[in-house]
Amino acid sequence: MDLSEIVKEFAGAAKTDPNLLVGFETGDDAGVYRLSDEVALVQTVDYITPVVDDPFLYGQVAASNSISDVYAMGGRPLTAMNLCNFPARNIDKASLRKILEGGFSKIKEAGATLVGGHTVRDDELKYGLSVTGLIHPKRILTNAAARPGDHLVLTKPIGTGVIITGFRRGLASDELLMRAVDWMAALNRVACETMLEFDPHACTDVTGFGLSGHALGMAKGSNVRMRIRFKDVPRYEESLDLIGQGVATSVTASNMQAAGDFLTFSGNFTDEERWLIVDPQTSGGLLISLPADQAPTLVARLHERGNRVAAVVGEVVPADGRPGLEIVK
Ligand code: CO
Ligand code: CO
Ligand code: CO
Repeated sequence: MDLSEIVKEFAGAAKTDPNLLVGFETGDDAGVYRLSDEVALVQTVDYITPVVDDPFLYGQVAASNSISDVYAMGGRPLTAMNLCNFPARNIDKASLRKILEGGFSKIKEAGATLVGGHTVRDDELKYGLSVTGLIHPKRILTNAAARPGDHLVLTKPIGTGVIITGFRRGLASDELLMRAVDWMAALNRVACETMLEFDPHACTDVTGFGLSGHALGMAKGSNVRMRIRFKDVPRYEESLDLIGQGVATSVTASNMQAAGDFLTFSGNFTDEERWLIVDPQTSGGLLISLPADQAPTLVARLHERGNRVAAVVGEVVPADGRPGLEIVK
């Protein structure tokens, strides 16, 4: 029995509260709890080990990653709490302060307020946030409402997993790592606020389970099939070279296994291209399912607002009995 199954044992008990609008049994990005007919809380927590040596940048990436799950529901971040596990040895106070400063800069940029936190001594450094946001109960973007006919928009490039790992192995340049860190540190705020000017049906953020895992989460939750065109997926071209050199993250293989035969490739795909689809992301982009006629306008608006990689990457089609994700050339 794995941990997720143990956790699910508690989902049934939580479901008896009628104000729990999104619980954890559906594996959504955040929990949503109704306070009134007008307002619901969006709650999430996430923390990560360092993705980069620079403590300020690590703090920024970790905070952006944590806040992202509020954006993935269509919410507005309200308050945040620091969570930090730090080794008693091997870390100086100045670095710890830099991590918290990095996180604080992103909390402010999100328009949220830092209200507290908790630190624990631990052998391995970990940092992130618990974030509470607000949302209108009728405007929640779960993973369960993508509709056949929708088009899919992705707002950040994929391939950061092998870039972080490749850098540790000396195979990725500083320049490439910093390009990836820039994207990982970027909030999904503009993407979320721009999306909310349209009529999105569903949204999630692409993180540890890779594009495959998060797209499949939405496809299964919505009982649809998704068809994604590989050539249109924003990505770091260098990540394909890194995969070709044998770079893989600790969860790449399990992401492929988890996707199983729900994930299919139609056409001539190289191994590198297949593995990129399951590459785990840290603080990845939003994957948005919205009416087809709105997708190009959403992308155009994101480009206007400085996001030059957002793209329409695919479409939603009926499940015909079996949800899934098909990658086409
Ligand atoms: Co998420
Ligand atoms: Co998360
Ligand atoms: Co969502």
